[in-house]
Amino acid sequence: MRLSDCHNVEDFRRLAKHRLPSPVFHYIDGAGDDEVTKRRNSSAFDDCDLVPNVLAGVQDIDMSVTVMGKRIAMPLMLSPTALQRLFHWQGERAVAAVAERFNTWFGISSLATVSIEEVGAAISTPKMFQLYIHKDKGLNRSMVERCKSANFDAITLTVDTIVAGNRERCLRTGFTSPPRFTPSSVLSYATHPGWVANYLFREKFALPNLSTHVGEGTNVALSVADYFNTMLDQSMDWKMAEAIRADWGGQFCLKGIMSVADAKRAVDIGATAIMVSNHGGRQLDGSRSPFDQIAEIADAVGGQIDIICDGGVRRGSHVLKALAAGATACSGGRLYLYALAAAGEAGVERIIGKLRDEIERDMKLMGVRSPSELNRSMLRWR
Ligand code: FNR
Ligand code: LAC
Repeated sequence: MRLSDCHNVEDFRRLAKHRLPSPVFHYIDGAGDDEVTKRRNSSAFDDCDLVPNVLAGVQDIDMSVTVMGKRIAMPLMLSPTALQRLFHWQGERAVAAVAERFNTWFGISSLATVSIEEVGAAISTPKMFQLYIHKDKGLNRSMVERCKSANFDAITLTVDTIVAGNRERCLRTGFTSPPRFTPSSVLSYATHPGWVANYLFREKFALPNLSTHVGEGTNVALSVADYFNTMLDQSMDWKMAEAIRADWGGQFCLKGIMSVADAKRAVDIGATAIMVSNHGGRQLDGSRSPFDQIAEIADAVGGQIDIICDGGVRRGSHVLKALAAGATACSGGRLYLYALAAAGEAGVERIIGKLRDEIERDMKLMGVRSPSELNRSMLRWR
C-alpha cells in the first residue's frame, strides 16, 4: 500500500499500522476501557441523515467560517496532539505547514515535540497552544508567557484529563514517552528499522515546552498515564480556569466540555470557544459523543461562544452534519495523525486535501453556498 492508494482516513490508518512499531500505533489508535466512546464518536454521524435541497446555483461557494475571531478557509481545524515527532520525524512541522497551506487553525500540545517559539515563528495561520495545568505553577505561568511572546492566537485549556484514562492497549504494549525498548516490544521495533533509524539518528526526542521546568519528565521514559497522574493538578477548577483566561487576556478555549451546564459556565468565565470533546474517547469511556451533544449545547449557548465539534470526524459529510446541528466548526486529531504517521507532510497534505474536497463536494450536493446556510431542517435522526 502506497500514499497514492490512500483515499480516506481509514486507508491512512491501515498504512500507519503497517509503518509504525505497534506500541506507537496503538498509542494513537487506542482509547479508554472498551473504546465504546471512541467508536460512538464516529458512528453517531451514521445515525443522522442529510436532506439535500437542489437547484441552488452552487458554482461559486464559500467554505470559510470564523473561529475565535479568525477567518479560516474551511470549517475543519487540526486539534492539538502530543508527541508528533514520534509518529513521523517531520512531526508538528509537517502538520503546521499543511495547516498554513489550507489556512486553518492548528494547535500544538503542551507535550509537543517542537517549541512554542519555533511554531510561532514558522507559520502565520491561526495557532493555538493547548495548555495542561501542572502542579508546578511556575511552569504554567512560563507557558502562557511564552505563548504571548510567540504571538499565539489562542490558548486552549484541556479540562477532560484531570486523571489519566485507562488505555489498555498502552498497558499491553508498555508504551512510554520517550519509547523504551523492552523485551516485549523489541520485536515490533526491530521489524520497523526505518522508524527506528529516524528515531535514533534525526533530531533527538524532546518536549521543549516542558523541559524548562521538568527536565526529568522529558527524558525519562514515562507512560502518558504517569505523566497525567503525577504532574497535572487535580485541584483545577473554574476559578483557576478563569484566572488563566484573565492572565492570558486573549482568545480562550475550553477543550473537553460536554454538558450544557459547563458550556454556560464557559461563557460566564469569558471563554471565547469550547471544544465539545471527549478527547477522542481516550479518557472517560461511556461519555456521549461530541456530535450527539452539539444540538443541545448550541441551543443553550449558540451565538455567545464558538462551538467546535471535536472527535470522530472522518468524512466531509460529518463536518456538514455537525455544522447543521449548530457547531461553528469541527476539529480532529486522528484524521491527520494516521496520515502523518503513514507518510509525513505528504500524507497530511493528501488527507486534508481530500477532506477539504469532500466538504466542498458535499456542500454543493446539499445545495448550500456557505456554512451559514446549513441548519437543522437538513438533518433527520433515524
Ligand atoms: C490527543 N489529544 C490530545 N488533546 C489534548 O488536549 N492534548 C494532547 O496532548 C493530546 N494528545 C493526543 C494524542 C493523540 C495520539 C490523540 C489521538 C489525541 C486529543 C485530540 O486533541 C482530540 O481531542 C481527539 O484526537 C479528537 O478525536 P479524533 O479526531 O482523534 O477522533
Ligand atoms: C493523550 C494526551 C497526551 O491523549 O492528551 O495521549
